[in-house]
Amino acid sequence: MSPARSPKPSADVIGDLVAAARKARKRAWAPYSNFHVGAAVLAGGRVFTGVNVENASYPLSVCAERNAVAAAVMAGKTTIDAVAVVAGDTVPTPPCGGCRQVLHEFGPGMLVVAEADNGRRAEWVLKALLPAAFDSASLRDR
Ligand code: THU
Repeated sequence: MSPARSPKPSADVIGDLVAAARKARKRAWAPYSNFHVGAAVLAGGRVFTGVNVENASYPLSVCAERNAVAAAVMAGKTTIDAVAVVAGDTVPTPPCGGCRQVLHEFGPGMLVVAEADNGRRAEWVLKALLPAAFDSASLRDR
């Protein structure tokens, strides 16, 4: 079952979400890649942020989007309407494949907004970034 696209948040709400991701990005811990990522998810009208947290044991690093999702879930939110990602200097960066999967769990129809440091923006609907997703319905087919 794939819910329809989430209602598109207003330009103001999207602007606030991107601003929250941009502010959070300053807290990124990325001494190894030097690629600082801030993310913000919109859930039930509230905004939850996350940053990438790297580790000297590289594979233990966690992406910004996943930390933002964890913050929302910790607050009792399990439906996400939009995610903003601020990363890169000039080119908007969509979520990595793993984060697409994690985000999909909480809103296949969510709006994905990516903004580069220079303000260049791109938008997608999540399910277009993760077609034929593996989800809870896949698990029922056994
Ligand atoms: N990263 C994210 O935080 N989100 C993504 O969607 C892509 C990659 C982080 C992981 C790592 O800390 C750094 O960016 C370089 O890959």
